[in-house]
Amino acid sequence: MRAHPAGPRHADVVQERHSSGPPRDLNTLDPKVWPRNISRGPDGEMRLAGVDVRDLAATHRTPVMVMDEADFRSRCHDFADAFGSAAAVHYASKAFLSGEIARWLDDEGLGLDVCSEGELAVALRAGFPAGRIAFHGSNKSERELRTAVDAGIGAIVVDSYYEIARLAELALERADEPSRSVREAASRNGSTATLEPIPVMVRVTVGVEAHTHEFIATAHEDQKFGFSLTGGDAAEAIRRIAACAGLRLVGLHSHIGSQIFDPAGFEVAAHRVVRLLADTVTEHPELADTLTTLDLGGGLGIAYTSADDPTPPDVMAKALADIVSREAQLAGIAVPRIAVEPGRAIVGPGTVTVYEVGTIKDVVLDGGMVRRYVSVDGGMSDNIRTALYDAEYTVTLASRTSDAPPMTSRVVGKHCESGDIVVRDCYLPSDIAVGDLIAVAATGAYCYVMSSNYNRVPRPAVVAVRDGADRTVLRRETDDDLMRLETW
Ligand code: LLP
Repeated sequence: MRAHPAGPRHADVVQERHSSGPPRDLNTLDPKVWPRNISRGPDGEMRLAGVDVRDLAATHRTPVMVMDEADFRSRCHDFADAFGSAAAVHYASKAFLSGEIARWLDDEGLGLDVCSEGELAVALRAGFPAGRIAFHGSNKSERELRTAVDAGIGAIVVDSYYEIARLAELALERADEPSRSVREAASRNGSTATLEPIPVMVRVTVGVEAHTHEFIATAHEDQKFGFSLTGGDAAEAIRRIAACAGLRLVGLHSHIGSQIFDPAGFEVAAHRVVRLLADTVTEHPELADTLTTLDLGGGLGIAYTSADDPTPPDVMAKALADIVSREAQLAGIAVPRIAVEPGRAIVGPGTVTVYEVGTIKDVVLDGGMVRRYVSVDGGMSDNIRTALYDAEYTVTLASRTSDAPPMTSRVVGKHCESGDIVVRDCYLPSDIAVGDLIAVAATGAYCYVMSSNYNRVPRPAVVAVRDGADRTVLRRETDDDLMRLETW
């Protein structure tokens, strides 16, 4: 089995490919796959939070990515309720971030994870409190570390010995000359500028490679992230941090992959990190008071098709809480606070991408079967996941319903390569026509953020819908945007 560095490739874990034949009704919107506030209107048109997709397409052009705001917020609640007030839920902004989203997350009381200066800048500019942000990444620059520390970041999740050394130097520098932002913050609060140690977590590679239906222990050591548990690097990283007065170890962190359906991989990871926590407080009793968080990362899967069966957050939360408290009791240590970092499971399901149908081409395959290629006005520039991971998606006719018989179809983009596929295997009604709108479900995570201007195609608008109204979250790129880097 192959795995992409952040976890399993979707294709590797979804073995059955539409073996079940066409659905009984192509117009049905499976609630497992589509946003929570979706319906069909009187003309059969798709409505998102009461807004007609035809109006959205007319206003924002196509493709347009439509986010059901209430869906997003309700999934934040689902996680917060499932994990309870004793735990911390940090939204992984790499799945999708904009200023608006950062404000929703702040309203909902979640924390935020960033993994670059750019993500951090968006969050801070939106007014998201730095103290609720954690900074990840396997190659943070000195500038990124400095910016994060000056902003008063909640935690830096350290990923290498080099980074520990850089942070230790930064702490020394700050002790010599308290930074401007510390002085400014102190003068705002009317206090004296005191330097708190830099809060850090250690990212541990627990040796678990998680897949949808199984996990393979010890198989995932050979990658760039974290400190190896079995090789002793995690313990050594902790020793180096403990020896540095300017750093404060506040947590241990593990992230085992993405689009995971089976809690078993998380359970093995939790078991191993609690053991490391117990060993750490035995070796460094002075850390026991501050080393209180066990961050189990993100990775909870979502349904891209009706065949997918993800674990609900409350089931996952209970499984993790049980294993962490059992292991902590066995090890004789205080039960740590659990933190999780869902991205996809919060933002993925509530967004759909609406495209306009252009060229339609029927291709006769060996054996006489016909596959209909339905071209849309976007493609791998707004959703690279099918090309990159062989991801599967669900698509439906959105501007109307149709009772025409299902046709074996493939939704393809407008880019100049044959791998430019949005939905590889699907059924669309045989009367599909140029100018129809179609919608692809569950495109909220890792689509816009991995988008490009390939073939100088502009990025689509991202629009939030709520209570019958729409609001632009990110505007569609213009011709000027496409030229903005030119020096002529
Ligand atoms: N925490 C850490 C440290 C991560 O690296 C990630 C994702 C998450 C949390 C959030 O994982 P989620 O809950 O969203 O699965 N581009 C790929 C996914 C890459 C995931 C990278 N890390 C895709 O499109 O499937």
